[in-house]
Amino acid sequence: MILKTKFTEMMNCNLPIIGAPMFLVSNEDLVVKVSEKGGVGTTPSLNWRPPDQFEKALKNIKSQTQKPIGVNIIVNQSNPRQKIDLKISLDVGVDLFITSLGNPKEVIKQAHQNGAKVICDVTNLEHALKVQDLGADGVIAVSSGAGGHAGPISPFALIPWLKRELNIPIVAAGAIADGYSMAAAFALGASAVSIGTRLIASKEAQVDTAYKQAIVKSTPEDIILTKRISGTPAAVIRTPYIEKMGTELPFLLEQFKKIPQAKKIVQMFIYSLGSRSLERSAKGLSWKEVWSAGQSVGAINEVLPTEDIIDKLMNEYFMAVKSLPLKENLT
Ligand SMILES: Cc1cc2nc3c(=O)[nH]c(=O)nc-3n(C[C@H](O)[C@H](O)[C@H](O)COP(=O)(O)O)c2cc1C
Repeated sequence: MILKTKFTEMMNCNLPIIGAPMFLVSNEDLVVKVSEKGGVGTTPSLNWRPPDQFEKALKNIKSQTQKPIGVNIIVNQSNPRQKIDLKISLDVGVDLFITSLGNPKEVIKQAHQNGAKVICDVTNLEHALKVQDLGADGVIAVSSGAGGHAGPISPFALIPWLKRELNIPIVAAGAIADGYSMAAAFALGASAVSIGTRLIASKEAQVDTAYKQAIVKSTPEDIILTKRISGTPAAVIRTPYIEKMGTELPFLLEQFKKIPQAKKIVQMFIYSLGSRSLERSAKGLSWKEVWSAGQSVGAINEVLPTEDIIDKLMNEYFMAVKSLPLKENLT
């Protein structure tokens, strides 16, 4: 199956689909399957500790596919591994970098020296214009409803807003789990989609079965935003544990965060507790369930192999495009 867009031209791939980088979820198998199917499989570098394990994983991925693959690097101060992970990725021959949460200048400079592309997570026009000026090859428009750190703006407003002002490709991210939402994103001006939550309920994702089943059973109303994982709102499934803990930071931590000298340490403290809860839940090691997911859970009814997820998505996409406007709207 082939669907050409500006994104596929840029990445030299057949499908305008990114398998979104997901902390604790993306693994070697998932990256390989998405890329081999024609999209671009990606992973956060931080899914392996220490960095030499990351290098080993990347080499393993590269030994299984010649197709383009991508790595997500968090480019703010919370990530002490930025430089080393960038170097490892470039040495191994990563084709695409996805930057999140900070200034991507260094990644853009070094990636371009090595012929790799860089697209940056953005949630508004100001940040999108900044990364375009820095030389980014595209942006990922992270909209409301997304898994992870969702943006606050509806994709119906965000994508056309960015489209009017930018001259680099836009990748839509947030609540896309089927070909119908993919077609909608393309109608709004996106050149590709980045799909996260749908791929948690894949055969390949390395998470506990209970997490996958929670994705299958949940509705969009079960997704809530909590500050307890990283200090900024992140989307999770409403579990009894999340309900018990509440979604705001404890009062004292909020106060400490306001003190400039303490802010960074408090952030790191929240983040390390949050990641530990996420990790234990993803591995099924705790009844304190903290499961990250976006509103597209409403469109996910079964756990499928990644190949089947992409086939289904593309078939739905072509059907959606062919059948518009829907018959029931014509009379
Ligand atoms: C479990 C989970 C973990 C995520 N981890 C990361 C991450 O480490 N880095 C990042 O840039 N985005 C991360 N994201 C966001 C995704 O890359 C992507 O933007 C988002 O999942 C798209 O929305 P969707 O889940 O509705 O498809 C994560 C999302 C989920 C659901």
